[in-house]
Amino acid sequence: MDRIISEIGIKGVFNAEGDAWRPQRKLSVAALAQRHLRQLYPCIGTVAARLKRRWERSAEAGEPLDFVEELKRFTVDVTMLIAFGYDVNTVEQADDVIQRELEIIFPAVNRRLFALFPIWRIVRSPSDRRLERALRNVRAWLSGLVDNARAGLQADPDRAHRPSNFLEAMLAAVDEEGKPFADDVIMSNLMTMLLAGEDTTANTLAWAVHHLCDSPEWVAEIRREADEMVGPVDVAENIDVANGLARAGAVANETMRLRPVAPVGLFDANVDAALGDLRIPAGTTVVILPRVPALDQKNFVQPLAFRPQRWMEHHPGAHEVSANAPFGSGPRMCPGRSLALLEMKTFLSMLYKSFDVDRVGRPEDVTELFGFTMSPVGLKVRLRPRPAR
Ligand code: HEM
Repeated sequence: MDRIISEIGIKGVFNAEGDAWRPQRKLSVAALAQRHLRQLYPCIGTVAARLKRRWERSAEAGEPLDFVEELKRFTVDVTMLIAFGYDVNTVEQADDVIQRELEIIFPAVNRRLFALFPIWRIVRSPSDRRLERALRNVRAWLSGLVDNARAGLQADPDRAHRPSNFLEAMLAAVDEEGKPFADDVIMSNLMTMLLAGEDTTANTLAWAVHHLCDSPEWVAEIRREADEMVGPVDVAENIDVANGLARAGAVANETMRLRPVAPVGLFDANVDAALGDLRIPAGTTVVILPRVPALDQKNFVQPLAFRPQRWMEHHPGAHEVSANAPFGSGPRMCPGRSLALLEMKTFLSMLYKSFDVDRVGRPEDVTELFGFTMSPVGLKVRLRPRPAR
């Protein structure tokens, strides 16, 4: 994984190791911590409200929506605001958006990860050239943000002591010898955040909507909760309301159990280790498939059924938390998990509070495509304004 990702010029928190990884990890965790999310929650609310307005127009026109595409607008806008303090507002734009470039990168990296032979090192195909172009464009776009943030810190040096987002924190940080992060490390981490925050949450939400299309009783549960807790407004007004949306959270957890968007974990053992009765010598590559324990009836009753209620029940056998690890585990566990859950709860309550959602086509026409993250291909939905109550 590291070889392939480094080769395209990304050496950030996701693939750095040891002493290089530790300070980058610290900044990522701080930028995505609950305390920080509390201050920045209004950004999530703003993006969700914009999405609602966008969808009111398409509901009026009755046009089917490519839902994963739509959701990526939501997650890119949120990630940009939270991590870089920049309002890119792709929700209110037409088609010429940064996502067009990002969507080239993940599948291309995935193809290389699983290639039998590194053919791109010998001949460059049109898809390799597309990848290079996409990387160049994303980098050029991000370097504009870095220049602006640097200028902001120079104009107001006090900000370096209280950075307001991940980008400022990276620019202001120095190591024990007083050296700042190198420019390529900063750029790598911006790309990492953008890529890690976009596909994962958007695909999970799309899978949730896919399952909810066949689960009217859970649509009713989310609505009841939203009507009671969010009240007369469209979007949860503050982080406490959003965090408290337990039913929307149960839907998110159940979706991640059935459809983990990171279904393959590739790791190298840095030291000799043991997993149960399996000895793993240092240097061994370990492939972790989180869906195997998550669909095992030893851990979950009716493991193949979409049953969000299992996450609301607290009796023995209701659910086995440790058998479901969609965010990974251990010191490298996803630092974006609180943000992802917050986005998902805010989004699901907004969607079902305001709209009826119909899938266009048959459920079996929606298929899984593994392109680094696992997305629902062919998911189109039509929205209708929810009838007045
Ligand atoms: C449903 C949404 C998400 C899922 C399922 C998910 C899943 C994961 C997984 C499985 C890992 C690897 C963990 C390991 O190695 O043990 C990971 C790492 C990471 N995730 Fe997420 N993620 C999600 C959302 C996000 C968001 C919203 C962000 C930030 C904006 C983010 C940032 C990261 C970063 C920076 C890492 C690398 C951490 C490290 O290596 O120290 N993720 N994520």
